[in-house]
Amino acid sequence: MVNNLKALLKKAQDDKYALGSFNIYNYETIKGVFNAIKNAGVDGIIAFGAKYTSNMELNEVANLIRTVTAGYGKDIAIHLDHCSDFKLIKEAIDAGFTSVMIDGSALSYEENVALTKEVCDYAHQRSVSVEAELGSIALGEHSNEDHQEEKYTDPEKAKDFVDRTGVDCLAVSIGTVHGTYKGTPNISVKRLKEINALLDIPLVLHGGSGTPEDTIRECIANGICKININTEMSKNAVKAMYERTKENPKSHFSQLSVLAREKVTEVATKYINLFQR
Ligand code: 13P
Repeated sequence: MVNNLKALLKKAQDDKYALGSFNIYNYETIKGVFNAIKNAGVDGIIAFGAKYTSNMELNEVANLIRTVTAGYGKDIAIHLDHCSDFKLIKEAIDAGFTSVMIDGSALSYEENVALTKEVCDYAHQRSVSVEAELGSIALGEHSNEDHQEEKYTDPEKAKDFVDRTGVDCLAVSIGTVHGTYKGTPNISVKRLKEINALLDIPLVLHGGSGTPEDTIRECIANGICKININTEMSKNAVKAMYERTKENPKSHFSQLSVLAREKVTEVATKYINLFQR
């Protein structure tokens, strides 16, 4: 059954596990992710990034997720990932998304507070949960060596931000990156502990793909309840399709689609198992 993120994350926070938030952009990814969730018998977050609106329209995403997950006995959140545009957030809510992320991380602190507060007021009136981001999560090419600690989330600011906005969960910047790590990542669990000590709400880790398993376990033990995964599902699906077409250039699109879906399920299953601790 479809629910908002607040309900799902409360259970994760109480029982100290994390939910994977898996990015989807077509039928194969939706079905592939849902198969992993269903096989594991867990609650699930199916996330659509605002940057993928050329792949699917918002109402298609929400309706297709509802159709594919119909009758499933656990909670499913339909989440809009990384959106900096309030207008698109309103459209997603109208289309049936149950959760949205307002990403004001490129704005000044005060602008981020103001925009996030406005989105929370709007979304909460409609029973939709809100995730926000404070600090800035880098891309893969800016991983480990950069030590961009000035971009890490400041614990005191995080407390002020949550108090002033009423946001339901917060994405923190502690050294994970979106995309592929260049080398061994430098992730500050110390910073996470400092943030978690000041906040009561569930915390979110972006850039989950390729993050070392021990680090992920430590993060879950210290307040992370939602972990986003995108790159690894995409990379594994593309690699499998590439190898299959190299073997057989006449491969049919229908077979490649099923192959891609299976790879998505494999990756999502690996992370669901890891996140349950
Ligand atoms: P990865 O692409 O590194 O898995 O990160 C996904 C993410 O954080 C989406 O918001």
